[in-house]
Amino acid sequence: MKILLTGAGGQIGHDLIGALVSQGHQVVSTDLAPRPPSHAHAGGVDWQRLDVTDAAAVQHMFTEHRPELVFHLAAILSARGEQDPRLAYDVNQTGTWNVLEACRRAKVNRLIFTSSIAVFGPPPSGPLPDPTPDDVALHPGTMYGATKVSGELLCAYYRKRYGIDCRGVRFPGLISAAMPGGGSSDYALFMYVDGVRKGAYEAFARADTRIPLMYMPDGVRALLELALADPARLTRTIYNIAAFSPRADEIATSVKRVLPHAKFTYTPDPVRQGILDSWPKSIDDSAAQRDWGWKPKYDLDAMTDDLVPRVTRMLELGAILSH
Ligand code: SER
Repeated sequence: MKILLTGAGGQIGHDLIGALVSQGHQVVSTDLAPRPPSHAHAGGVDWQRLDVTDAAAVQHMFTEHRPELVFHLAAILSARGEQDPRLAYDVNQTGTWNVLEACRRAKVNRLIFTSSIAVFGPPPSGPLPDPTPDDVALHPGTMYGATKVSGELLCAYYRKRYGIDCRGVRFPGLISAAMPGGGSSDYALFMYVDGVRKGAYEAFARADTRIPLMYMPDGVRALLELALADPARLTRTIYNIAAFSPRADEIATSVKRVLPHAKFTYTPDPVRQGILDSWPKSIDDSAAQRDWGWKPKYDLDAMTDDLVPRVTRMLELGAILSH
């Protein structure tokens, strides 16, 4: 199948491209950034420069390639978005609108939208239910979250109005052997990266911070399973998906099983801690389980066992490439 990715150079694209290529798909990877060195030898992957805020460029790209399926990954994440809300609006809001319009005009059959737990925030009436279900009033506290809510609604609109089969997941914080890019959940990944690299990490979150997290192989599998799910079985446009919800100090304990000398300290950053505290502690994903059989494979310790050697290899490769 011919598949186009936006934001292919980001954390999800890094792993999704490999999975798509290994399944024999023809992949058009688009991003504002050039092809990362780690993808230099990926066969079968066409890498194209694309700025999703440029409507004409998005239109041209989609009409030229006429993909059957699009994964729309381009976004400015929550912490970076609070530094530059205008940029987050342009990329996430205008970018999603441009992608939806290009899908409509280029007659793309199916679009996969990547939403986030950042659509949630405490409602005026009190804290979010724990676990948080799909359908609660959405009160995001960040520009990133506001644009993801809008993206979800636009997906539902384009589906109803124009018949584009648009579907999506609300990702928990994703952890993988790739350098993170401006998310509030990055403290979890840095426990691994700096745990390996420096033997220590000063987290920007409190020890008792608890948010939903997921290991990237499960995240990629969720995207592929949702993309291929029988439309007749889907009762929603956007689905909560969950894996595990550890406290920050529970992640530290898991890492220390493998890296016993690693030291973790906690110095909360007010902005990012505020964002983390506004998100659900855990997620109810029963609709995804029921409709398309969603089930994570990795718990926290299984992720740690798989991830530490991968992070080690990533850092070694990075050191080689930078020389
Ligand atoms: N992990 C993202 C972030 O921290 C949320 O989707 O911004």
